[in-house]
Amino acid sequence: MSIPVVAIDGPSGSGKGTVARRLAEALGFHLLDSGALYRVTGHAGWLNGLDPRDEAGHAALAAGLDLVFAVAADGGEAILLNGVDIASEIRTEQGGARASAVASHPAVRRALMDRQRAFATAPGLVADGRDMGTVVFPDAVLKIFLTASAAERARRRFLQLQAKGLSVDIESLSREIEERDWRDANRSASPLVPAVDAIQIDSTAMGPDAVVAAVLALALARLAG
Ligand code: DC
Repeated sequence: MSIPVVAIDGPSGSGKGTVARRLAEALGFHLLDSGALYRVTGHAGWLNGLDPRDEAGHAALAAGLDLVFAVAADGGEAILLNGVDIASEIRTEQGGARASAVASHPAVRRALMDRQRAFATAPGLVADGRDMGTVVFPDAVLKIFLTASAAERARRRFLQLQAKGLSVDIESLSREIEERDWRDANRSASPLVPAVDAIQIDSTAMGPDAVVAAVLALALARLAG
């Protein structure tokens, strides 16, 4: 029996992380946060003193990551690399920039492919990331491409970082988001593009509840059919 996969693709700040997590909870499915795998690979490279351009070095690290996703004592996420929780370190702007740099290497993307596909176990998977519907799970039962304007994505990221007590400047955040969008959309390996059979949802003027409700209704219809 093939395992049903719901793929949620889209750029940073489109809300795909929140939507994917809540959808997985509602369906009782597993969750794959593929961005975390690229963030961990970038972080591991940094710990090992690799140059971000070192494709072979990062691919070797990606293939052998000793990685566990768990829940921290305070109920938040724990991401254990070699037994050490690095969740807060990889969820920074710097962590995102390192991830984006190593994600442009085809050998790194290949090295992470099997690890991502291994998340598809019964009863099903919600997969969050830029190339879930196009490359990693082309047979997904439902493919969503979630977008929001760059200004709205910068605003959401600003509020998230502020809530964590981090001081950031919205102008530079906006610039970083646009730069990362450009790099992710223009790289030759798995560029950020919607799958031809993806349903596009623009969340600029929608709250998370409305997006989750819309995606859940689509998922239930596909899973029933
Ligand atoms: O979703 P995120 O912000 O955690 O992703 C961090 C970086 O990883 C992002 O700049 C692009 C890259 N990424 C990718 O190339 N493919 C994925 N499936 C997920 C993330």
